[in-house]
Amino acid sequence: MPMTILSLSPTHFRNLTTGQINFSSGFNIVVGENGSGKTSLLEAIYMLTSGRSFRTRKSETIIYRDESGVSGNETFLFGRLGHFDDSRSITEVGVSRSKIDNGLIKIDGQKVNSASQLASLCPITVIEPDNLSLLSGAPQQRRKFVDWGVFHVEPSFSKLWKDYSTALKQRNAVLKSVSSSNLSANNNPLDIWDEQLSLYANRIDGLRFRFFEVLKESFEELLTMLLPEQKIALNYRRGWGSDEDLAQVLKKNRNTDLTRSFTSVGAHRMDVRISINNKAAIDVLSRGQLKLVTVALYLAQVRTLYLTTGKTSVVMVDDVSAELDTANTARVFSTLDELGSQIICTTLDLDQTTKSIKTTRDIKVFHVEQGNIKEDKTSI
Ligand SMILES: Nc1ncnc2c1ncn2[C@@H]1O[C@H](COP(=O)(O)OP(=O)(O)OP(=O)(O)O)[C@@H](O)[C@H]1O
Ligand SMILES: [Mg+2]
Repeated sequence: MPMTILSLSPTHFRNLTTGQINFSSGFNIVVGENGSGKTSLLEAIYMLTSGRSFRTRKSETIIYRDESGVSGNETFLFGRLGHFDDSRSITEVGVSRSKIDNGLIKIDGQKVNSASQLASLCPITVIEPDNLSLLSGAPQQRRKFVDWGVFHVEPSFSKLWKDYSTALKQRNAVLKSVSSSNLSANNNPLDIWDEQLSLYANRIDGLRFRFFEVLKESFEELLTMLLPEQKIALNYRRGWGSDEDLAQVLKKNRNTDLTRSFTSVGAHRMDVRISINNKAAIDVLSRGQLKLVTVALYLAQVRTLYLTTGKTSVVMVDDVSAELDTANTARVFSTLDELGSQIICTTLDLDQTTKSIKTTRDIKVFHVEQGNIKEDKTSI
């Protein structure tokens, strides 16, 4: 079973000055004023469990700087992951980020070379209802969204995607280095990469589509609860025509690809279309409705993982009070509660948020003031 987050100790991470924070396996409500450090805490938790930030790629942005802008070279996170009912299964994790090098990831004192090793321990997702980039952003956002699920469902996916990316880089390198007049029909350097690419792409497509089918069903069910008046369609686009053979399409497209020095079809072009009556949802719905669609997509992701593998997730919801009304917040929380998620949410309004939570599981409240986080044992 996947793990939950038991504790976190940040050092020199953004404005956080706090010592060890011990989380509940059920609900964790983080309350504090604007600029107090709520999102920074979520970012630290995300980095502890995935090795990455959801806000930036730049280490220097994350590393603590004082009022005059002076900062050190490094930030360090230490935490414990495990199962609340089994004290023997604790895994100690350390993640550092540095201005000088890429930083380190350690699991139980051992350095690991790939962040995916860390990410596989504890599925984590962050819902920022105000961030509509899943709907309005580039296809890469939606690819990452689907691949999060495929990664946690299918252990072979990570390696498969790496192999695919290597073959794609090689093919693009050939496209850059030759011109079509130099390519002979008998001994074409693109042949091998076309073959490799289509081999990996077909496997990736199979795994993605299997996840997507359950995702779509879950999404539709969740929508009847969150946005019952809208009929929103999710369509999977695999990155090349649905009735075409990729190896043949790659061959057919060689001349265009040579002109653009870029492979125009394949698993790296996968996308999910989110539409209403054939129009992109982003162009039709109100901002509030778009937020609910975004939330439904993330809940569907967590639900699909649970339905297909029984794995629970850690789900962080940033700024619930400002983005969703009380009835919808209650619906989101009860869905996550049923899915056994460990929930960490931030809010400006503690009363409103606690009213939306009906659970038999443990609830903890944390107050954040200027980067200092204190558990509040009195307010629940
Ligand atoms: N590298 C850094 N070092 C020190 N402080 C930082 C760093 N990066 C950001 N901050 C500051 O940390 C504070 C907390 O930011 P954060 O985004 O976590 O606030 P928040 O509680 O989520 O606020 P809001 O309710 O407005 O979303 C801000 O004042 C921000 O300017
Ligand atoms: Mg914030």
